This record gives sequence, C-alpha cells and structure tokens, in this order.
Amino acid sequence: MVDIQFPSDFLWGSSTSGPQSEGRLADDGKGDNVWDYWFEKEPEKFFDQVGPQKASTFYENYKTDIPYLKATGHTIFRTSIQWSRLIPTGDGEVNEKAVAFYRDVFKRIKAEGITLYVNLYHFDLPMALMERGGWELKETIDHYHRYARICFEEFGDLVDWWATFNEPIVPVEAGYLGQFHLPAVFDPKRAIQVAYNTQVASAYATKAYHELLGGNKMSIILNLTPAYARSEDEADQHAAKMAELLQARSFLDPSVKGIYPQELVDWVKEKGWMPEYTAEELTIIKENTIDFLGVNFYQPLRVKAPTDTTQVLPFEPWEMPGRRMNPHRGWEIYPESLYDIALNLKDNYGNIDWVVAENGMGVEGEEQFFENGQIQDDYRIDFFKEHLEQLHRGIQEGANCHGYLVWTFIDCWSWLNAYKNRYGLVELDLETGQRRIKKSGEWFKKLSENNGFDR
Ligand code: BG6
Repeated sequence: MVDIQFPSDFLWGSSTSGPQSEGRLADDGKGDNVWDYWFEKEPEKFFDQVGPQKASTFYENYKTDIPYLKATGHTIFRTSIQWSRLIPTGDGEVNEKAVAFYRDVFKRIKAEGITLYVNLYHFDLPMALMERGGWELKETIDHYHRYARICFEEFGDLVDWWATFNEPIVPVEAGYLGQFHLPAVFDPKRAIQVAYNTQVASAYATKAYHELLGGNKMSIILNLTPAYARSEDEADQHAAKMAELLQARSFLDPSVKGIYPQELVDWVKEKGWMPEYTAEELTIIKENTIDFLGVNFYQPLRVKAPTDTTQVLPFEPWEMPGRRMNPHRGWEIYPESLYDIALNLKDNYGNIDWVVAENGMGVEGEEQFFENGQIQDDYRIDFFKEHLEQLHRGIQEGANCHGYLVWTFIDCWSWLNAYKNRYGLVELDLETGQRRIKKSGEWFKKLSENNGFDR
C-alpha cells in the first residue's frame, strides 16, 4: 500500500506527437507540413536553428525506442499520425511507406501490452493545404475527413483510443492572433472561422470513427487552463468568465455537449465576427460528440479586466504577486488547477470519462542536473507528485479520470522552441543521439507498478 493509491484500472504513460518525435529521412515519402516549410524559410525563428527534420529521430530508431516505454512503466502511450507523412499533399495519394511505418510502430507498442492512444492532428497541417488557405477553407474540412477515414481503415485494428485534435485553440491563437504558428497574422475574424471549421472537422472525424469502427474511444485533447480572476470585482470576474469561454469552452462545449455556449455566440456576433456556417454543420456538431476527453494541463490562466478597452480580447493576463514559478520555463506552477478541472468536468460536463493527456515540467539547460550518469530531475518528480495529489483528490470526490500521461517520453522537439525546454522521462543527447532514462523515468516506473506513491 502507498499513501496515494489510484483506482485499479488507472493507466500511466506519456504523450508525444509525430511531428515532434519522428524526424525525416530523404526517401521516406513524407510531404512538407507548415513547420517544415517555415523552418526552410526562416530557420532563425527556431531556437538554436533546430528544425523538424531531425526531431528525436523516432522514425529511424523506433525499434530501439519502444522498449524504453516498458522500462519507464508505461501502460498507455500517446502519439500522433502525421497527416503530411500519410498523405504528402494532404488530399492526394497515400504514402505506402507511412502505412508500413505506423503499422509496425503500433504493432510493437501493442506487443508490449501498452494501450495505444493515437491523435490525428497535432498542429501539423500539410503545407499544400495551407498554401490554399488552410483551415479558413471549408475544403480543408473535407480533406481532413478523408484523412481521418483512411487512418481508421489502415490502423483501426491496432489503435485502442483515438483523438481528433490536440489543443485546437493553440493554432487559432498562435497563428491568427499571435506570431508563433503559421500564417502568423493578426485577424480575429479569420481566427474564429478557423476555430469553427476545426470543430466541424472534429465532429466529422468522430462520426466516421463511430461508423467505421463502432467503438466508444474517440476523444479530443483540450488544454483546459482554468481562468482565475485577479479579484472579486465584477469587471475581473467578467474577464475570467470570458477567458474561460474563449479559451476552454469554445471547444469543450461543442465537443462534449454538441452546442456552443450562447454567451460566446452573442459575443462573437456583437463583434461582427460570426463565421460562415450551415445548419447541416451545426447538426453534425450536435450529433457527433466525443466519448471521452483528453486534458492537457501545464499552468493556470490568471486574468484581469482589460486596461485598454480597445483591445480585441475581453481579458488581460495578470501576474499574480507571489505566484510560484517554474523558473526554467517561466510558467506558474499551480497543481490545484487539476482538482478544479476534475470538479468542473464532474459537475458541468456530465462527469465525462477523461485522462490527463499532458502534464509536465519543461526545463531549459537540463544538462546542469546531470550527475552520476543521469539527469537528477527531482524537481520533475515533485511536480508530478503535487499534480497527482490534486488529481487524486478530484477522483476521491467522484471525478471520472482514468489515466495520467506526462509530456513527454523521450525529450522531443517543440515548434519554435525546438529543444529549448526538456520534458522527457528519457533524456536525448542531441550530439550523440544517445537515450538515457532520467531519475523521473525510474520514479515513474515505480509509480506505475505501485499504482500510486508515498508522499
Ligand atoms: C503542449 C503541446 O501545449 O505543450 C506540445 O501540445 C508542446 O506540442 C508542449 O511540446 C510543451 O511546450 P513547450 O513550448 O514548453 O515546448
């Protein structure tokens, strides 16, 4: 027995994504996605000018990487299929080398007795589709729908759990309100069209999954970052409510309940940013909700009423004095949020089944903690423990959470940040390509074996 004991069917593992782990080989048949293209055009935007071509070389090394899953106690593993690997142009021919690769990877993971959780889309639009207008166009929904169906047909016998999208709000914010994803423009109206089209695509994929595979393991993975107001003042409270509506409920409500929150629709209308939509699409959203939810959580969102009322968003970030920081990544550490998420899903979303699909601590310059042949990442173990305690509290109170997947398995490449922040249970030596289990990887194995831990 351990102090914090999880339910007997609880799953332990990690998440990564195709574009962040696989890398490319000259003859692999993969097409360019938005990241391949961006790196070719502007490599200086990427930390240390490291691009997606290399990533963690999983494409080359998966046969020797997969045993590390067992060695670090995984009972579940999440990755994603790269659309641009399977269908290089996004809407054309299937790349048979990709089919063979993913089938072999998935078979080997299954052979280890590990539950396989596969996501269809992790920020990685094929470039040929982006050139035509990407998610702003309705035709991208059709191409994604076809891609999803091909995945279900090719890999449906091997995959246990599916997801339609990872953090779909991120490309909307980072690509249409910020400068961190392509097309790197500022245009709220286009942002809202992209968000809406993504939701329609997710519903079509969910429908196709239920029709083709008949299972009950389709999800979407959302970064449900709870929004906390600066004060009890009405204006701050309103800001927090709007932040929650825009950043979490914009995908959570249609994905779980099949409808958009009325207050969100009213706000979009008032701004004059209503997307193009049809009654048929709304019916597709209504009738094709997910079976379970993946939740990514890293940091809370603290907000206040906007000081500049001409700005687009109805809230502003607030730096809470005395907040506890992960100094290496610059993100606040607030494990209580996981408890709040658990209770929110229990009380307001029909106590839906869910898993933590990402949680982790990014550390820059992690080699400074290398000692006795291993990264001594006690800070990460403490981070996991604190979050698990809060999650456990939520489960004790009836929340329906069935697994905890950390970010990430082997240190992986991360968009513009490349290898700046390390998250892995397994260290990747960028110079030699060597893999070494970190102290947290060993701890995670014990956590999984004991199905819990001592405080
Ligand atoms: C999550 C994403 O939001 O954050 C991952 O799903 C990403 O793709 C992770 O790698 C960590 O982000 P970063 O910027 O600290 O590397």
